[in-house]
Amino acid sequence: MKLYNLKDHNEQVSFAQAVKQGLGKQQGLFFPLELPEFESTDIDAMLEMDFVSRSSKILSAYIGDEIAAHQLAERVKAAFAFPAPVAEVTEDIACLELFHGPTLAFKDFGGRFMAQMLSYISGTDEQITILTATSGDTGAAVAHAFYGMENVRVVILYPQGKISPLQEKLFCTLGGNIHTIAIDGDFDACQALVKQAFDDEALKKAIGLNSANSINISRLLAQICYYFEAVAQLPQEKRNQLVISVPSGNFGDLTAGLLAKSLGLPVKRFIAATNRNDTVPRFLSNGAWQPNATVATLSNAMDVSQPNNWPRVEELFRRKTWRLNDLGFGAVDDETTRSTMRELAGLGYISEPHAAIAYRMLRDQLQPGEYGLFLGTAHPAKFKESVEEILQQTLPLPVELAERADLPLLSHKMKADFAELRGFLTQL
Ligand SMILES: Cc1ncc(COP(=O)(O)O)c(C=O)c1O
Repeated sequence: MKLYNLKDHNEQVSFAQAVKQGLGKQQGLFFPLELPEFESTDIDAMLEMDFVSRSSKILSAYIGDEIAAHQLAERVKAAFAFPAPVAEVTEDIACLELFHGPTLAFKDFGGRFMAQMLSYISGTDEQITILTATSGDTGAAVAHAFYGMENVRVVILYPQGKISPLQEKLFCTLGGNIHTIAIDGDFDACQALVKQAFDDEALKKAIGLNSANSINISRLLAQICYYFEAVAQLPQEKRNQLVISVPSGNFGDLTAGLLAKSLGLPVKRFIAATNRNDTVPRFLSNGAWQPNATVATLSNAMDVSQPNNWPRVEELFRRKTWRLNDLGFGAVDDETTRSTMRELAGLGYISEPHAAIAYRMLRDQLQPGEYGLFLGTAHPAKFKESVEEILQQTLPLPVELAERADLPLLSHKMKADFAELRGFLTQL
């Protein structure tokens, strides 16, 4: 598989290099040179396969002969060891539940596949430092995916006080090779620090720097697989009228969905649903890219005003000659998020703020005859405090959270200051 840097098309790398490097020169994102496409008969046959076999075929179409098919299949099997069920909410709307992995969020798919790929590519004698910023769930998924792995140190930056207490417990209580830092700033500040570190060639070399954000191509490719898994669970008549609504922050999940469509998955339309951090919806409605200051919302993992995967979305539309006008979009404020969560509870479906935003846009924009899926990106219990307050009911804690809830936090605290972060990284 060859990939090019979106900021400098002359920089071309293999899949292995892209996984190890994360970002290219000038912090450019890597993008596949070839966009494989399956025949519709292949797609039909693939939709009959089990999740792991189908996912291996999808990933192999992108990765090519860099990894032998049977070895890739083994890695996929180890990474995707939990289901992604479709749960019916109304007659014409269902939720693709992506929160049945060890950290109860969709990030488990990407995080675990990336860990598998890195360990395959790096072998055993290279020291790697994973540095990543999280607005909530990436941190937990990455921490758990790499926890205890030899020769890998993980450093996770997150905005202090801006992620849910249980989210924090899930990854800041592990210790060992997992180091967590609460940054005095917002998620964009954390992301900026990570970018600065990747710009620092000397540092990169000294500590074997790698990112595990959704910018890493291995994470993105892994996420394509669950869109196929969703369609595989739908009856034939619903497959051709499918609209998928994606709760979006950094736009990795939406990019993966669009890559699934580019492979030939029948999806009529995608909807990019955001909270009040609505840079993309405003851009799609008036053509002006004008990020505002990030505001804190109930759906904190989507509090991103400069979504770093957006250049990939634009590149894909350009390459496929699709029209950005065909992308559905919309932004939902906290008040509407609350009332939508209550509406969903009334329908017998307990949801959390991120998924509720995607549902809201779907139910507002779905046309007669269409079938809608929205992505359930996190387990409601990960947002226990707000869900309980909004729905006025108690949520039981799943075991994955219950076992960490009373453990002490092991995080360091730091200003959003690169010199300080650099010192920390070199002394690890
Ligand atoms: C629960 C949840 N939903 C949605 C998103 C947004 O996904 P993306 O950043 O790929 O747009 C995130 C991102 O962290 C998340 O944690």
